[in-house]
Amino acid sequence: EGDADLEKRPAVVTVMGHVDHGKTRLLDAIRHSNVVEGEHGGITQHIGAYQIGFDHDGRQRRITFIDTPGHEAFTAMRARGAKVTDIAILVVAADDGVMPQTVEALNHAQAAGVPIVVAVNKIDKEGANPDKIRGQLTEYGLVPEEYGGDTMFVDVSARQNLNIDDLLSAVLLTADAALDLRANPNKDARGIAIEANLDKGRGAVATVLVQSGTLKVGDTIVAGIAHGRVRAMFDENGDQVEAAAPSRPVQVLGLSTVPRAGDTFLVTDDERTARQIAEKREAADRNAALAKRRKRISLEDFD
Ligand code: GTP
Ligand code: NA
Ligand code: MG
Repeated sequence: EGDADLEKRPAVVTVMGHVDHGKTRLLDAIRHSNVVEGEHGGITQHIGAYQIGFDHDGRQRRITFIDTPGHEAFTAMRARGAKVTDIAILVVAADDGVMPQTVEALNHAQAAGVPIVVAVNKIDKEGANPDKIRGQLTEYGLVPEEYGGDTMFVDVSARQNLNIDDLLSAVLLTADAALDLRANPNKDARGIAIEANLDKGRGAVATVLVQSGTLKVGDTIVAGIAHGRVRAMFDENGDQVEAAAPSRPVQVLGLSTVPRAGDTFLVTDDERTARQIAEKREAADRNAALAKRRKRISLEDFD
């Protein structure tokens, strides 16, 4: 695969921060500010990831947001060796300040080498002190541009939809300045499972993020110990799609079982190969569990 095969792809962004600092509300604000209300009968269902498209400096741009329960999923995915996110938005409530999970989140992002954009949220609240947040984070190595550093801070209110566009601009500027986001769309897809659940009517429903290649309906995939032929795919609006390019999250139907968040997926030549890979993994998991139990029993023998 040569350099010429690589094409630009949208940035994948995760929102992290201390409990109740407004991660979910901010993701809602970003999504709603870029979705035509009523177009799909309103947005009700929760999905694990979505992509927005919007006009920026006369260019059509896209960003993919992963709506994880914050750093926990981030940690779980990293523990499985998966790199999901290109950029982290660190949300800090301006009336509360830097808290333990703020520090944890920024440590995770820094350890993974992921650039951080700081969203100083809840600036509508009485007692909001955005300057204090800038001072606090400077001590953790996140020095605001206006102080001569290289971290972008944007004051926002998720509740009042204040400065959401500025935040998106900051994400794009960070992506363009610090990252070379490219992937080859012209090959079999690879990516990662973001979340999955068992649906009564539809069976295993997995939200996956395509990281390279293009995923197509009819492809055979294996994700962790789950395998199957992609029966149908849906975008963030619940609309059916036939193909998903790099950085695109889609809901996938047709898997034999539910993959875990952070499981990688790949396309195989046929269903038999997918099943064999899945079965091998399952057997390996079983053996590992058995070995662990044997070890425990043999240790107990010495008590
Ligand atoms: P966890 O997922 O539980 O960690 O919380 P979170 O970070 O997702 O916070 P969430 O979005 O649930 O917001 C927590 C509370 O803060 C909710 O009551 C929100 O309505 C409120 N909130 C979020 N953003 C703002 C804001 O900009 N201004 C004000 N005044 N309240 C906000
Ligand atoms: Na909350
Ligand atoms: Mg939340």
